Amino acid sequence: TLTQAEKAAVTTIWAKVATQIEAIGAESLERLFASYPQTKTYFPHFDLSQGSVQLRGHGSKVLNAIGEAVKNIDDIRGALAKLSELHAYILRVDPVNFKLLSQCILCSVAARYPSDFTPEVHAAWDKFLSSVSSVLTEKYR
Ligand code: HEM
Repeated sequence: TLTQAEKAAVTTIWAKVATQIEAIGAESLERLFASYPQTKTYFPHFDLSQGSVQLRGHGSKVLNAIGEAVKNIDDIRGALAKLSELHAYILRVDPVNFKLLSQCILCSVAARYPSDFTPEVHAAWDKFLSSVSSVLTEKYR
């Protein structure tokens, strides 16, 4: 669980990210597909070229879900319950991919807000994304 200081750090950087949902969401997916091309196999029905409508649309969905988790930082499990079932039972995304996407989101945020991305913010954001990933993969067990 996150400490009060970590929650505060996540909430503060999120206030900035929230103004750039579509751009940061799309960039995170572009980084995912460019660095880890095997992840593209989950999206055979998508146009994955840079800046495509689907990339931006899906990037927004992913980041908005993360925003829900930020708003419900004391009940991430409750906030993401439906998404957890979707990824486990219907999409069957291999859990290793959550770590990869988390890294790509982290890089996209760091690249956009370098001076805000202190080691403390980095650590808090990493821990928060790990919690989100744990919730989204816990139904597999
Ligand atoms: C769909 C969030 C990780 C593959 C979705 C949706 C959201 C979401 C909000 C849309 C659900 C809906 O339409 O009702 C997240 C979050 C993640 C995450 C917050 C982790 C931080 C992943 C990973 C993969 C993945 C790692 C695979 C590499 C998919 C696929 C869909 C989907 C294939 C369906 C896309 C479509 O056909 O529209 N996800 N996701 N997700 N997600 Fe994730």
